Amino acid sequence: MASTATRIGKVELASFVFNAIGPKDVTLDELRVIGKSSAAAIATKSCTPLPRDGNEEPRYRDLELGSINSMGLPNLGVDAYVELSHTIKEEFPDKPLIVGAAGIGFEDFPVVVEKLQKSAADMLEVNLSCPNVKGKPQIAYDFASMDKTLKTVMSIGDKPIGVKLPPYFDFVHFEQAAEVLSKYDLEFLCCVNSIGNALVIDPETEAPVIRPKGGFGGLGGKYLKPTALANVRKFYELLGDRFAIIGVGGVYTGSDAFEFLLAGASAVQVGTVFMQEGPKCFERIDKELAEILKRKKYASVEDAKGKLKML
Ligand code: DHB
Repeated sequence: MASTATRIGKVELASFVFNAIGPKDVTLDELRVIGKSSAAAIATKSCTPLPRDGNEEPRYRDLELGSINSMGLPNLGVDAYVELSHTIKEEFPDKPLIVGAAGIGFEDFPVVVEKLQKSAADMLEVNLSCPNVKGKPQIAYDFASMDKTLKTVMSIGDKPIGVKLPPYFDFVHFEQAAEVLSKYDLEFLCCVNSIGNALVIDPETEAPVIRPKGGFGGLGGKYLKPTALANVRKFYELLGDRFAIIGVGGVYTGSDAFEFLLAGASAVQVGTVFMQEGPKCFERIDKELAEILKRKKYASVEDAKGKLKML
């Protein structure tokens, strides 16, 4: 079996697949489930300065080809993640730990990132793309705001920082985003968050399938994969020599992971399939990827990374 060992910046991963920030990663018990699984790393829910209950239920729905959610950043608050990060690190010392950092407003980001300097996180994933906070735009769709947020958080401490980006849909926007990102010494780009503000309607009930924001929510799973692949590929072309890219969006199988690898991803995260299949998905997908690498005679992940062939 070919090895799927990889690295994100300076951090080594024993395999290629771990959890996307969002599903089943809020509490210590949930994080222990990820720790005990074959996931290559443990990633926590994005945290805010204070605990949040999130949006009203129903706020998540499995769909035929994926999922829709409008969770509204339910989390235990940054202080709890600083504390539990040390417990997780003691229990799972060999697994890289990524703690998610978010804000409701701009002023939350420095508070959270400052406090997380005392955590046991190996890296922070700063969320510039939450689509589900009522009345708040996605930061990464406003390049001046993205620049200001990055300038602030990157001046704070030594914890390596990566960013979670939303899907972009236009070459001009990829280039404008890349111009801002290239100013900072980031550890990774995580591409992509859900397609924000999608609407799924149940024709039987004649109502949306989730309640918050009139039914508008983030779309994940198979609906997202071609867009996610495009974002990984574009950022790999523009910034692949500077930053590792983590692919996320519609990875269900080793073949999906292999496609992200060809596009330029250094690792993949899984969200919807982790919700639907549980923690055994990490080992399954990673094994399937290893078999593909072996069959195609790639000696390692590095050997195949970014090797998308042009027609
Ligand atoms: C939530 C959803 C996201 O897509 C995200 O990046 C952060 C938070 C949420 O609704 O909790």
